[in-house]
Amino acid sequence: MKAKIIVTGGTGYIGSHTIIELIKSGQFEAVAVDSCVRSTPETIDRIEEITGVRVKHHNIDICDRNAFFSVIEQEAPVAGIIHFAAFKCVPESVEKPLMYYRNNLGSLENVLEACELYHIPRLIFSSSASIYGDVKELPVTEKTPFGTPFCPYAHTKQIGEQMIHFFADTHPDLQSVILRYFNPVGNDMSGLNGELSPDKPNNLMPIVTQVAIGKMKQLTVFGTDYDTRDGSCIRDYIHVCDIADAHVKALQFLIDKKNESNCEIFNLGSGNGVSVLEIINAFEKVNHIKLNYTIGGRRPGDVPAIYSNSQRANALLNWHCRYDINDMVESAWKWEKHLSHLRKTE
Ligand code: NAD
Ligand code: WQD
Repeated sequence: MKAKIIVTGGTGYIGSHTIIELIKSGQFEAVAVDSCVRSTPETIDRIEEITGVRVKHHNIDICDRNAFFSVIEQEAPVAGIIHFAAFKCVPESVEKPLMYYRNNLGSLENVLEACELYHIPRLIFSSSASIYGDVKELPVTEKTPFGTPFCPYAHTKQIGEQMIHFFADTHPDLQSVILRYFNPVGNDMSGLNGELSPDKPNNLMPIVTQVAIGKMKQLTVFGTDYDTRDGSCIRDYIHVCDIADAHVKALQFLIDKKNESNCEIFNLGSGNGVSVLEIINAFEKVNHIKLNYTIGGRRPGDVPAIYSNSQRANALLNWHCRYDINDMVESAWKWEKHLSHLRKTE
C-alpha cells in the first residue's frame, strides 16, 4: 500500500508540483487540502492531465480546526503532512500583518496539533530564505542565524520554525524537516501546470512572462548600481520541480530513519547566484523574444546578493538540481502561453 501524504496548499504553485512528484515516485498517495483562497480547484485537473491520477481534494480552511481535524480523521492513517498552505506576498504582509500571523501561524498550530492527536509521524514544513534577512556572509548555510525580519511574512516563517522546534522537543514521535526555499521559479516542463500569479505580481519571473505576453507594459530592473558583476541584484533561482523533488526526498529520508534529530533543516537553492539582467538575457535567448524593460532605482529592502550553500541537502537527502536557468525561463514562458490560451477559451 502507498503511504498517504496530506499536502496542505496542494492546489497552489509548489504544492501542485510536489503532488506531481509524489505521484511520479510511485511510493505515495497524495491528498490535497486547500481552501483555494490563492489558487483554483482546476489545478486538480491539470495534475490529472500530467500524471493520469485524479487526486482527492478537500476544499477547507486549515485554520478551521474542526474542518481540518475531520479531514484528517477521514483520511487516517496518514503517513505524513507536507504543509505548504500559507500567504506569501511580502508587500501584502506589510499592509495586513495580522492576516499573515493569523493564517500562517494558525494553520501551522492546527497542523501540529493534528500530528499530536492523530499520531501522524512525519511533517515537512515550507520555510523561506527570507528568514536570513540581510546576510553578511555568502553563501548562506543552515547555520547562518536568523536576521532581523524585514516583513511580517518573513517573521511568520521564523516563528513557524521555532514553533516546530519547541514542539519537536516534547514530541519525540514526530519526525520533521524544515525546508528553506530560495527563489522558486519555472513550472512543469510540459507547460500544463504552473503558478497562478496575481494580476499585479511582485516577483521577477511572473513579471517577466506577463510583460512578454503583453499583460504588463514594461519590466523595471530595480537597480544596476549594486556591487555585483553586472550591477543588478543576485538571487538563487531554483526550478520548482527541483523544490518539489526535495520534498519527496525529505519524506524518504524520514521514512528510512536517516535523520539525526527529529527536526532537521535544509536549504534548497541551486547554489548559483544569477543576476536580474542574466535572467532577462536567458529569457530572451531561450524563448527568442525581446523583453520591454527599463533600468530603474533600487527597491527598498532588497539585498544586493543572496545565494545558498545546499551541500547539506545534496549529501543527506541525495538531492541535486536537475534543471538550470534555461529550463526555468523556458517552462515559465510555456506556462504563461498556456494560461493565456486557457483564458481565451474560458
Ligand atoms: P501559493 O499561494 O501558490 O500556494 C499556497 C496555497 O495555500 C494556495 O493554494 C492557497 O489557496 C492555500 N492556502 C493558504 N492559506 C490556506 C488556509 N488557511 N487553508 C487552506 N489553504 C490555504 O504559494 P506557493 O508559492 O506554492 O508557496 C507554498 C509555500 O512555500 C508557502 O508556505 C510559502 O510561504 C512557501 N515559500 C514560497 C516561496 C515562493 O517564492 N513561491 C518561497 C519560499 C517559501
Ligand atoms: C528577485 C529580484 C528584485 C521585480 C521574494 C521574497 C522571498 C521569497 C521569494 C517567499 C530582486 C528584482 C523584481 C521587478 C526587479 N518568497 N526585480 N524588477 O525579493 O528575492 O524574494 O520572493 O518566501 O521571501 O522576499 O524575489 O522575485 O521579488 O525579486 O528587478 O519588477 O528581481 O530587485 O533582485 P526576492 P523577487
